[in-house]
Amino acid sequence: MTPFPAPNRLHVWWARRPLVASRAAVLASILPEGANRIAFKHALGIHGDPVRSAALIDRAKRTGIRVDDPYGYERAFKYSPSRQEMIDLAGDNREKTLVLDATAGGGAIPLEAVRLGFSAIGNDLNPIASLLQRASIEYPRRHGKVLVDEFSSVASDFRTRIGEVLREYVPQPNAPQEEATSFLWARTVVCPYCAGKVPLSPNWRLAPDGTGVRLTPNICKGPGDEQRQCSFEIVTSVQDQSTGTVAGGDGICPFPDCGRPIASDDIKRQALAGSMGDQLFTVVYKRQTITKTKTGKNKIKWIREFPLLLQMMTIKKRWKNCSLRRYLSGKRWMWCPSSASQRVARRTRRAVLG
Ligand SMILES: C[S@@+](CC[C@H](N)C(=O)[O-])C[C@H]1O[C@@H](n2cnc3c(N)ncnc32)[C@H](O)[C@@H]1O
Ligand SMILES: [Zn+2]
Repeated sequence: MTPFPAPNRLHVWWARRPLVASRAAVLASILPEGANRIAFKHALGIHGDPVRSAALIDRAKRTGIRVDDPYGYERAFKYSPSRQEMIDLAGDNREKTLVLDATAGGGAIPLEAVRLGFSAIGNDLNPIASLLQRASIEYPRRHGKVLVDEFSSVASDFRTRIGEVLREYVPQPNAPQEEATSFLWARTVVCPYCAGKVPLSPNWRLAPDGTGVRLTPNICKGPGDEQRQCSFEIVTSVQDQSTGTVAGGDGICPFPDCGRPIASDDIKRQALAGSMGDQLFTVVYKRQTITKTKTGKNKIKWIREFPLLLQMMTIKKRWKNCSLRRYLSGKRWMWCPSSASQRVARRTRRAVLG
């Protein structure tokens, strides 16, 4: 079982259930009490003893000695039971059984119902969830592999076009070996006690290996100086990271000569008045490296990196007054160049509706 079912990679949705747990819930609610338990587990993709595998993983964590392939079988969510396997388990008239998920969200339940050969209705009051369900369950079922090819082509076209537009604002001097991929911004509020600009984040972790951010608050002339703001530095150990500036809805002022809590009501008041700001605190880079495989062949690997202070300053300077940034801060939704988005919409419509 995995907490990261594959549809996560297509679109994020809240509280998505793992695919295998969803499949178990669908199957168990349909099969009779006396159904074959071994066949049930096999249909879920569990083809070994997961308890033993969990024990092996635990031991590897304790001893630091890696176990190759502790499960001994393909990840369960990748397994689709064969037609015959499902006939043996649940009969030949499965499409007559209708599974309804009235609050289907990212669609794990209807997706698994359809994968098992049942009919399904996925519903959600949110139109984005509804669109997700159509795109990831209904269209692949209706159009098959042609949709995957069309999606790959449209997505790569979109990446190229958005890259062209952003290149004007985002320095990519070392492309294609090095590419800036994500720009991480923190929303800011003004501390009501010292007038400092406070970037809000529950923690400043960037990667599990200890990479994170240390805030350097510039106190200027002291409390009341409206120029007070933080600069950001990338650090490589958890101990060097700053502590979070927001917890349970309340903020914490990071300026050492203030350090007072900022009540959630103050944060809400600034948000409602439209006076929250934002600060770019880092840019994520991908760097291409070439390693050798066991057989001596070259293998391309992308390594995630964060820029040095100097690179950050160049990026910030470019962003400060650019029209794209002003456009983005006025609109709190994803932006894409209209010609590219129209083309994407046209091609998707053509692929889906013919
Ligand atoms: C926790 S999510 C479901 C996640 C889903 N089980 C999955 O694995 O992706 C709950 C969903 O219920 C939807 N919802 C809440 N109230 C609803 C209502 N009254 N009618 C329809 N959908 C509703 C929300 O929009 C949200 O997408
Ligand atoms: Zn303060």
